Amino acid sequence: MKSAVILAGGSGKRMKTDKPKVLHEVLGKPMLEWVIDSCRSANVDRICVVKGFASEMIDEYILNSGYGIETALQSERLGTGHAVMMAEDFIKQDLDGDVIVLNGDAPFIDADTILASFEEHKSSGAGATVITARVDNPFGYGRIKRDGNGILGIVEQKDCTEDEVLIDEINSGCYWFKASDLLSALPRLRQNNAQNEFYLTDTLGIILSDGKKVEGYIAKTSDVVLGANDRKGLLKLSDIAREKIIDKHLENGVEFVSTDGVVISPDAVIGEGTKILPNTMIMGKSVIGKSCVVGPNSRLTNIIVGDSTGLDNVVAVDSKIGSNVSVGPFVQLRPNSVIEDYAHIGDFVEIKNSVIGKGTSVSHLTYVGDSDVGKNVNFGCGVVTVNYDGSKKARCVIKDNAFIGCNTNLVAPVTIGEAAYTAAGSTVTKDVPDYALAIERTDLEIKKDYALKKLTRHLEKGKRIK
Ligand code: UD1
Ligand code: CA
Repeated sequence: MKSAVILAGGSGKRMKTDKPKVLHEVLGKPMLEWVIDSCRSANVDRICVVKGFASEMIDEYILNSGYGIETALQSERLGTGHAVMMAEDFIKQDLDGDVIVLNGDAPFIDADTILASFEEHKSSGAGATVITARVDNPFGYGRIKRDGNGILGIVEQKDCTEDEVLIDEINSGCYWFKASDLLSALPRLRQNNAQNEFYLTDTLGIILSDGKKVEGYIAKTSDVVLGANDRKGLLKLSDIAREKIIDKHLENGVEFVSTDGVVISPDAVIGEGTKILPNTMIMGKSVIGKSCVVGPNSRLTNIIVGDSTGLDNVVAVDSKIGSNVSVGPFVQLRPNSVIEDYAHIGDFVEIKNSVIGKGTSVSHLTYVGDSDVGKNVNFGCGVVTVNYDGSKKARCVIKDNAFIGCNTNLVAPVTIGEAAYTAAGSTVTKDVPDYALAIERTDLEIKKDYALKKLTRHLEKGKRIK
């Protein structure tokens, strides 16, 4: 079995927050989740997160993720080796397996690197395989000391000699271990170094001294080592990821008119022929179909969209939009909205927790909340579903082919029957049967010359003042 231990004990002090460092986000996704998702994509069977600072926030995150991940607590920060010691019980559960140790604050470790290094680890039969990278500026990282192909050990920046400082192959902080070799090395770690810590890197020398092999796997891209300690670092990671993600979509046939203000989450899926216009954020696990036009000025979070749909100046969260739908400009779709195929949602419309049926048109200045709307319904301008009486919410049902006149208030709970009409300006408080008209108005009174008299009085008053 393949297991992973993810080190996530660090604080967000330099981020100036009280969150654990690994919960800070790159493109809207916590760094820890990037690492967890890479493990899952690489078919790692079991994951243990070592928490330390603000561990209750890590617990809460893991609970909400639904991933079924284990945790171990490091209550004192005594180094990376000490952190892995805290996961001893987790590692012991699979003595014949292999364990990858990863840094929770280095989000770009990818499934391909995890898998390719695993292949090498298995085929060489090494006790440990270090994922390394060659970088222009190795400052701060542990340097890889080699002897021919094999690895002799890792020297931390603070422990480097003048010669070692010049080595440009560095330790990514990710390593595969045979579980049994790791377990045998951990209790033999000592704090005899510049930082007085238990260095995980010292396990390599111990494994070598036991007569086992230690190998290195050089990552295809040095991005796998990148981490963030502060806000500047976090922004840098977001910039790097943003560019890579847009490149991937360009290769898949997505069109960008300009990438200004375009931010796409690593987990978003976009179909070919779809055009993304400026200032558009496609966040979370959004899935957008083919030949859509999205933007400008839109923010979609966890939205599923069909094909050939247009979204112009739309803010939408946790909702589903069909194919051949037009939404916008200036529309908000709040959670749990479903807009079916061929519907039209026009300007200044807000939809919440409602279904809008196929071919239905909600063209202007309307609020539809907690409602089930059928097919081919027409909403006039300025309709309001009155779904909240100050203490509880209720639903409106509007059946197929109904026609809701301009400026109608539908006071929930209420049902508008099939093909029924409501007259403009009506406040509807009772169910309307199929094919009926609901009209709620007082008779219109005309007061002849009322305005003329008023105007005359006004003009006379003006003369007196002069
Ligand atoms: C470590 C490696 C170094 C490597 C670098 C890559 C050691 C001794 N050095 O250095 O060779 O180049 O990573 O980034 O391992 N953590 C804990 N508890 C602790 C200490 C650390 O949970 O007691 C966590 C941190 O929160 C972080 C990860 O382990 O997520 C790495 O720790 P960090 O202090 O950044 O290690 P480095 O000194 O950078
Ligand atoms: Ca680090």
